[in-house]
Amino acid sequence: MTSASPAVRNGRPLSGCFAPPGDKSITHRAVLFGLLAEGTSRITFPNPGEDCLGSLRCAEALGAAVERDADGWTLTGAGAHMRAAGGGLDCGNSGTTMRLLTGVLAGRPFDSRLEGDASLSRRPMARIIEPLSRMGARIESAAGGRPPLHVRGSALRGIEYDIPVASAQVATCLLLAGLSAEGATRVRLPGPARDHTERMLPAYGVELEVVELEGGGRSVTLPGRAELRACDVRVPGDASAAAFFLAAAAASPGAVVTATGMNLNPTRTGLLDVLAEMGAEVSLSRVRSEAGEPVGDVTVTGPHRLRAFDVPPEWAPRLIDEVPAWAVLACAAEGTSRITGAAELRVKESDRVLAIARNLAACSITARELPDGLEVTGGRPRGARIEAHLDHRIVMAFAALGASCEESMTFDDVSSVATSYPEFFPALAALGAVVEDHS
Ligand code: S3P
Repeated sequence: MTSASPAVRNGRPLSGCFAPPGDKSITHRAVLFGLLAEGTSRITFPNPGEDCLGSLRCAEALGAAVERDADGWTLTGAGAHMRAAGGGLDCGNSGTTMRLLTGVLAGRPFDSRLEGDASLSRRPMARIIEPLSRMGARIESAAGGRPPLHVRGSALRGIEYDIPVASAQVATCLLLAGLSAEGATRVRLPGPARDHTERMLPAYGVELEVVELEGGGRSVTLPGRAELRACDVRVPGDASAAAFFLAAAAASPGAVVTATGMNLNPTRTGLLDVLAEMGAEVSLSRVRSEAGEPVGDVTVTGPHRLRAFDVPPEWAPRLIDEVPAWAVLACAAEGTSRITGAAELRVKESDRVLAIARNLAACSITARELPDGLEVTGGRPRGARIEAHLDHRIVMAFAALGASCEESMTFDDVSSVATSYPEFFPALAALGAVVEDHS
């Protein structure tokens, strides 16, 4: 965990290259698919944050053997020999760990208990409990479908299920449960949620049928029970981690910042489209394919003037984790920007609509909460003391905003940054922001 309490303010215009940490979503999947597989999988450049380390520890507790070195993890799966963990499985701050692992465990011949920190313990799990129960799973939760979850291993059957929200976590949870179910499992997503599971599973020997639906959603079918074979994964750079620096560059006239080796999966690049709409220059180079994902270097140049922009609601799933970074852009734009169709923001690591609006107000920026999004009017942000709400993306967004403020941005608690990007503050300083120890 990051122990110092940094204060961030402007230095020179941001400039330079940085390599974002490995993609968090892909790392979680590589760990859990590796656990399910027979044989040894190599995961190179995994996300080094606490969330993915938590998934790795859970995989070990369930019978995987893991060796860690400077470039990654070598994981020998438990496959059919997965065993009950000795105690509770600690999912920390990570909704992805809890939701995906519940899918892995629902159809096993043993019971499991999954628990999380104060933030995770407030997050909704009914969205997975309800469809898993239809598959035959038996899951007990705390009041209101909240963690901890007690999963009583049961025989599962495949179902057809229309997921009410465009959630890749829910889809992946059900497909993972489908791996140990009798018959086919078909899930339909109402919007363009991230598709890493569908891209990755075939490389582990699991065939899926994917049909694109009108309106950007898709239907994914797993034909029946399947066993995974080990697979090596080189994890691309995390677009959601890079977003803070790219947004800060766009918000600072004359800044030029390059994220190298960034994932360009179209389900994750909504923010790049927004940057371009608002008048920032976005250029791609060295575009290639890694782990079945498009990857490249992304350079953002801050224009003299950013235009306000209303993000169409159907874009929201493609930038749902980038909305805190979007707020940095909206502050620098002339006029009022809006994002709607993003009610999911209310149930992330914090209620991000509330956390962003309140912290922007503290920075003297006019921001209005909408039921499913935010409205932000550009202005001159002032440094303030930020309430992080145990949410890494709130800390990183306001630190990125601090890079354009004369007075320092300080924080009640920055420890959550370690969940996804332990080297965030040094990377921000290397690009030109002033980062001082405020403790
Ligand atoms: C994730 C999916 C998204 C995202 C989260 C990671 C994943 O959540 O916000 O950070 O790895 O599948 P939802 O599935 O709840 O939209």
